[in-house]
Amino acid sequence: MESFYKGSVFYYVPNTNYCYICRYKTLKNMSYGLLKGKKGIIFGALNEQSIAWKVAERCHEEGAEFILSNAPIALRMGELNGLAEKTGSEVIGADATSTEDLDKLFDAAIAKFGKIDFILHSIGMSVNVRKGKHYTDMNYDWTEKGWDISAVSFHKVMKTAWAKDCMNEWGSILALTYIAAQRTFPDYNDMSDNKAYLESIARTFGYYWGDRKVRVNTVSQSPTVTTAGSGVKGFGGFLGYAEDMSPLGNASALECADYCVTLFSDLTKKVTMQNLFHDGGFSNTGVTQKVIEKYDL
Ligand code: NAI
Repeated sequence: MESFYKGSVFYYVPNTNYCYICRYKTLKNMSYGLLKGKKGIIFGALNEQSIAWKVAERCHEEGAEFILSNAPIALRMGELNGLAEKTGSEVIGADATSTEDLDKLFDAAIAKFGKIDFILHSIGMSVNVRKGKHYTDMNYDWTEKGWDISAVSFHKVMKTAWAKDCMNEWGSILALTYIAAQRTFPDYNDMSDNKAYLESIARTFGYYWGDRKVRVNTVSQSPTVTTAGSGVKGFGGFLGYAEDMSPLGNASALECADYCVTLFSDLTKKVTMQNLFHDGGFSNTGVTQKVIEKYDL
């Protein structure tokens, strides 16, 4: 099958994404203009591996305009400027735990766009995980900091948007989460508790946003190789086990970005207050043949 993508011609091997001329695995006509005219704020793109980075690229391809935001310390690394250039976006720093920073960011977004249509919260960090502090010996100052960054910041972002009444009707607010909110994954440590809190905020605040015809959801993503993901002890094991336990295999960051695009688009207007698993079926699988074979010696 012949296909065109971004000015290039690809000839696909049937039922695959591989072009048999250049052998390049690419996207088949992935741009549908689903976000044409939509404006947003994307939090949490740190480097090319970041899920938010892929979301920004895909939102741009689908016609959206947005502001990229990250903590001032992350901006100093400078990588975000490349993404901003590529997507024609402005970068505005904000520590997502600081209500003053969020105030300034949203004021800038309103000055630029008027009302906005979508927000992505792709932020997470646990000091206990970073410093290798065991869950049974938690340092509560660190717990509080991680909770503020990974969970309460989502409330702060929504509270700021709510107070400024800056979301368009049928807007969409999303945060990224992980199944450790429902099931125990020991080395995920206090991030499990943070994710449970985050998902609860999405449901509770989502109820109130209903009055303004705005939806709020969390996407529960497969383990993905990123800076935050790789910080979890035994991450390779996590990744391999999830792959073997998912009938469709782990979902990649790019696939997560595709899913986020649909949730920002007008095709999902009545989906709200949900925790949506994007994990190749992992969350509903008891065991797979692959795993059985590993133990059935
Ligand atoms: P990442 O490390 O690329 O992104 C985390 C982001 O949080 C970084 O950009 C970082 O600068 C930002 N951040 C940290 N503190 C901040 C603060 N105070 N203010 C503003 N931003 C701050 O890693 P990844 O994996 O893309 O993480 C994005 C989200 O996806 C996180 O919520 C993570 O928990 C979630 N997730 C990741 C999975 C994985 O396996 N990588 C699986 C499921 C969910």
